[in-house]
Amino acid sequence: MTAETQTQSKIKVGIDAMGFSGAQCYIDMVDLAKARGVDPAKFIVGIGQKQMSVATPCEDTVSMAALAGRKALESFNIDPSEIGTLIIGTETGIDHSKPATAYVHELLGLPTNCRQFETKHACYGATAGLTSAADWISSGRARGRKALIIASDIARYGIDTPGEPTQGAGAVAMVVSENPRLFELDMNCVGDFSSQVMDFWRPLYSKYAFADGHYSIDCYLEALAHSLKDAQSVSDDLDRFKPDNLAACFYHVPFVKMARKAHTCFLEQHIDRKLDLQDVADKEIFTKSYGELTAPWLSVNAQVGNIYTGSLFLSMIDFISQENRDLENRDISIFSYGSGCGASFMLAKVVDGAMDYAQALNPRAELDRRQKLTIEEYEKIVALAEDIDMNDGLAPDPARWNLKGDIFYLGTHNHSRQYGPQSMRGQLQRVS
Ligand code: HMG
Repeated sequence: MTAETQTQSKIKVGIDAMGFSGAQCYIDMVDLAKARGVDPAKFIVGIGQKQMSVATPCEDTVSMAALAGRKALESFNIDPSEIGTLIIGTETGIDHSKPATAYVHELLGLPTNCRQFETKHACYGATAGLTSAADWISSGRARGRKALIIASDIARYGIDTPGEPTQGAGAVAMVVSENPRLFELDMNCVGDFSSQVMDFWRPLYSKYAFADGHYSIDCYLEALAHSLKDAQSVSDDLDRFKPDNLAACFYHVPFVKMARKAHTCFLEQHIDRKLDLQDVADKEIFTKSYGELTAPWLSVNAQVGNIYTGSLFLSMIDFISQENRDLENRDISIFSYGSGCGASFMLAKVVDGAMDYAQALNPRAELDRRQKLTIEEYEKIVALAEDIDMNDGLAPDPARWNLKGDIFYLGTHNHSRQYGPQSMRGQLQRVS
């Protein structure tokens, strides 16, 4: 170890609090498959998705981020005055210039000496925020304060595209601190990988992502292998990377089947050969490992869909909410991938007592309150999304979508986005 890494290793840093806020509506993947003339087994088994969250016109990157951030602070008794950095990772930003954090900073009542900015790197944005926050704390610049990192996105590929069954919407907030109550990050063995690839992107003129879907899967797996090797190259204990020594392996989850492919790749790196899943012994190795380390924490992702940069962290919320106390004090692996592409592989420890927060993090109530849409209703929402950001355009009505609470997107007036109580709606043309 170098002197520099020895200094770094003395400072404990990690995820102290989390919160999830999803979109208000969802569609069933069987309904979507039938409407598209596809065998439902392709979406349910082939892709691994059961449902897909759909954001109403009153929900955007800011409103979902603010609600997730507030949940993380309130559920873990953190006062807004303790936050010294606010970062939102998103690839569905609401302004070319002004960061979503400017609105969320106000909505959450954060202090004026709290710095705030947005990070963008496809699904890697929040991880970039997380590691930057950990570095901010490790450097001593935080002055004992905490960082609030929020992943917030609405994934849109468009009607009847191959990516359509891999959409979703939601936000995950994380508070990073010196005394983490959930996951302690090991900042001494973070492996990184970057490469300019055209696997997935969204040009300035499009609300919809473009994807070279099958190529993006190859890019993801390539990035996993490289970032894992990079992490191993700076670790002084390679045994910690062995699947048998890990309590859980978390991956970016654009769709559930992708995490399965990722875990196959991880095992192959470990045994240094390809797995042949037609072979009985190899199948047994894979089924046991995937069934113990990855599959148990994917059920929420299967109901929410791809929330882009928050998808990885959503499965970590699922993990804690299952309250498996035997997994405390154990190492986990975390792999984050963002198309374009950038990736990190890291290890972390489940903190002793982390499972005390199982109830606080349980996302079931959030999922149960969602409203089921018909495919026609979903298509109408998709069409509305085209106009909803126009100046003095449509004014979305929270009551129309049974939205409770107090943070909504209310349309754009005088070229300014409007959030919060319904005061501005009178000045805008109502959506019927
Ligand atoms: P596709 O081409 O329509 O699907 O799109 P397919 O033909 O590849 O089939 C998918 C799977 O279903 C296959 O399984 C089929 O065999 C199976 P696999 O071979 O992969 O194991 N299948 C069936 N299974 C049971 N019964 C059936 C049946 N039919 C087929 N009847 C694709 C799939 C994922 C390419 C598409 O949805 C897509 O383009 N998605 C968007 C891109 C994406 O999610 N890429 C993932 C890696 S990149 C990433 O994660 C970054 C990202 O999140 C963006 C960011 O960073 O911001 C996307």
